[in-house]
Amino acid sequence: MPNILDVLQNRSSKRAFLPKPVPKEIQEEILRYAQFTPSGANMQPWITYAISNEELLTKIGNAIIETMNSGVENDQFIQYYPLKWINPYKKRRVETGAGLYEMMGVDRKDSATRTKMWHDNFRWFGAKTVFFVFTRSELIDGAQGALIDCGAYMQSIMLAAEHFGLKSCPQGSTTEFGKIVARELGVDENLSLLYSVVIGYEDRDAKINGYRPKRVDISESVTFLD
Ligand SMILES: Cc1cc2nc3c(=O)[nH]c(=O)nc-3n(C[C@H](O)[C@H](O)[C@H](O)COP(=O)(O)O)c2cc1C
Repeated sequence: MPNILDVLQNRSSKRAFLPKPVPKEIQEEILRYAQFTPSGANMQPWITYAISNEELLTKIGNAIIETMNSGVENDQFIQYYPLKWINPYKKRRVETGAGLYEMMGVDRKDSATRTKMWHDNFRWFGAKTVFFVFTRSELIDGAQGALIDCGAYMQSIMLAAEHFGLKSCPQGSTTEFGKIVARELGVDENLSLLYSVVIGYEDRDAKINGYRPKRVDISESVTFLD
């Protein structure tokens, strides 16, 4: 059994999955352990829809892709990415994207292939299970704490998935079309979609799954004051 540090180091986002459903009992176990995520005042503000219904996942994906194709940039509850990109974050974003396309042999100017690769998000990278994580809209009305809690919950889900030999991909791409996801799922009007996490069995033969973007050294993000 790998230790927690190995799990932290070995988790990585996967973008090609086998068409093999994740048994409901395993989904429940993952979500039961993720429930131990700490949250401010023990609010536990995450509200999760675990969807393995293929028809429904296809319907959500189609609705998002149709919306994108009609020129709509987003239909969202929260703005995930910065409106103004500053360095070094802009540089890291560009490098991470470029690294992936380079590994896949896709020219940066080949916008058709890049668009198709982005659409793969809404085909759930071939996975059969997606967790959509919402929170009550009132909790993020003028406050951001629930977003912090739900971010920690995301990592808990992904680490728990590793325990069961499953891989994952967190998705801010669905955040951008959160209102469409909410509508297609028919959730209560007072819920806001924050993100989704694709869960499944990794296709180990898929080249894309070999991509491991590097991290900057902690000297670039940590200050020790002794
Ligand atoms: C909140 C969040 C949203 C993300 N959204 C997407 C997404 O929509 N599509 C995607 O392919 N990867 C997405 N990612 C994955 C990141 O690109 C990835 O975590 C990052 O490049 C580091 O790589 P790693 O997860 O393999 O370590 C997201 C990650 C996070 C944490």
